[in-house]
Amino acid sequence: MCRAGVNICIRSGCIEDIPELENIESECFDSSDYSLKRRQFRYLLSRSGSTFYVALLDSVVVGYICVIYYLKSARLYSIAVSRSVQGMGIASKLIGKAEEAVRMHGKTRFFLEVKVNNPAISLYTKSGFDLISKIDNYYIDGSIACKMMKLL
Ligand SMILES: CC(C)(COP(=O)(O)OP(=O)(O)OC[C@H]1O[C@@H](n2cnc3c(N)ncnc32)[C@H](O)[C@@H]1OP(=O)(O)O)[C@@H](O)C(=O)NCCC(=O)NCCS
Repeated sequence: MCRAGVNICIRSGCIEDIPELENIESECFDSSDYSLKRRQFRYLLSRSGSTFYVALLDSVVVGYICVIYYLKSARLYSIAVSRSVQGMGIASKLIGKAEEAVRMHGKTRFFLEVKVNNPAISLYTKSGFDLISKIDNYYIDGSIACKMMKLL
């Protein structure tokens, strides 16, 4: 159960989820430059060294989170939730579940990059991530990235 009394189920993603994941991407990211493409989803879902969870509402995929691992850390690679169900606590739930996976992988540093003007920064701050640096010219359009980290 998440906020608003909605029953959300979280499970590992699979190749069959790709069409629904593509719909979420096109809804959530204005510029196609930043959205994950089919072959990237296929790679992330089939690669053993990453964590990929999907959130389901009435058996429909409404959100996902993807984490990739490095030697000493984990990186929140991407997260998105369908517009129609945003604000219900689904992303918070996905992050909580991803944190469990990061701990299971024995990593204590969980980091991410986010565009400086993305409202998702509030989500990350609320989830316990701190701003650790800013990186100029990080994105294709030249905008700045905020690097954030949570110690687990
Ligand atoms: C960012 C995103 C994943 C949040 O999903 P969500 O399920 O709506 O998030 P939650 O409901 O769990 O939000 C939890 C908290 O995060 C903050 N938050 C989330 N989205 C926010 C937004 N757009 N603006 C301001 N605060 C936001 C709020 O503080 C919220 O708590 P509150 O409802 O008590 O105020 C969703 O808006 C999205 O898919 N955005 C487009 C894709 C994207 O930018 N992904 C991040 C790339 S780095």
